[in-house]
Amino acid sequence: MNPTSHADHDKRGAVLSGTAASDFTLKFGGPPRWIVAAPGRVNLIGDHTDYSGGLVLPMAIQRYAVIAAAPAPAGSGRRLRLHSAAVNESVDIPLEGTPGAGEPSWANYARGVVAGFLARGHVLPALDALVVSDVPLGGGLSSSAAFEVAVATLLETALGQPLGLVEKAQLCREAEHEYARVPCGIMDQLISVVGNDSGALLIDCHSGQTRPVPFADPGMSLLIANSEVRHSLGTGAYAVRRADCIEAARTLGVPELGQAVLAQVEAAQPRLGALLHRRARHVVTENERARAAAQAFEDGDWRTAGALMYQSHRSLRDDFEVSSPELDTLVELARDIGEDGGVFGARMTGGGFGGCTVTLVATDRAGAIGQRLAEGYQRRHQRALTWFVARPSRGAHVLQG
Ligand code: GLA
Repeated sequence: MNPTSHADHDKRGAVLSGTAASDFTLKFGGPPRWIVAAPGRVNLIGDHTDYSGGLVLPMAIQRYAVIAAAPAPAGSGRRLRLHSAAVNESVDIPLEGTPGAGEPSWANYARGVVAGFLARGHVLPALDALVVSDVPLGGGLSSSAAFEVAVATLLETALGQPLGLVEKAQLCREAEHEYARVPCGIMDQLISVVGNDSGALLIDCHSGQTRPVPFADPGMSLLIANSEVRHSLGTGAYAVRRADCIEAARTLGVPELGQAVLAQVEAAQPRLGALLHRRARHVVTENERARAAAQAFEDGDWRTAGALMYQSHRSLRDDFEVSSPELDTLVELARDIGEDGGVFGARMTGGGFGGCTVTLVATDRAGAIGQRLAEGYQRRHQRALTWFVARPSRGAHVLQG
């Protein structure tokens, strides 16, 4: 058995990097000096816990935002010209003062990262840059964090001055808060920075401590099923959930909900009221599930890991109310296939309100499982499913330069 078989042959990354280089050359009339990549992620368990100082278990995946860039020609002015291959549109982001958020909105992530560098006193060189990405947009796989972290990696590289890893993740999170108006936790940006290609990382979002949780058994795989129903965390539901958690923590008298335990939540039910009680119950039980699942993944105890994934989905659906009918269908279909068909567990992943599920499967059954999910999904929702097997990736890196 080859323990690195999940991570090897990052062919997609190589192809994407080639695309970024040739698109850059076409657009700007010369080759890029730098090429950088930052991965998306799948969260195995521990959702809607990060902003309450809880535990999360994300894995960076071999889906990337890749940026090719070069110094701008002399006389171009102090700006980053950024071209998005996805929408075939360019923006100029000023490299002095404070860049304002605005249209086109896809560029706000980059404006926010530039603003973070400027606020920290960095003097940025004028650049031409082009971004390509194969992280599905709005799919709960951190397409926006990958983009932010790729921009930060480019700026570090162009400056020749790396930031600290945690500082870099925090800067990118500030961009998400202030420029995309999503009050997210640290999970997505941190795993995109510090991911490793041997598997997942258990992150304690209160202390910042991390522990690698290898996912290296070639007999097991993580299948991502994309409901193709897009969510928008900016629509407000995410912020409302976060506010609920702050309110519940205040009622319980703890600084963050991640520090509460179930007995406390149950005892406070009359004071919390039904809704905050359910929200709090999700966070404290999800924390325990994340802790137990990390151990199960480490031990190769797939049955336990899978059972915890199903429980997590139920909690996100019923107590935290961030699932969607499509995600529920995908989890039910996986469950119906069951262990005999190679499925050990499934759950929605990420912020929810659409997006993707993650299913723990036997590698030799992955193709058949993906197909059965797609057929069932088409029957139930008259929609096409896209699915793929996720492989662990290292965190953001420089491919050229
Ligand atoms: C989004 C946020 C993360 C996290 C997840 C839910 O991905 O960006 O910080 O809160 O939702 O776990």
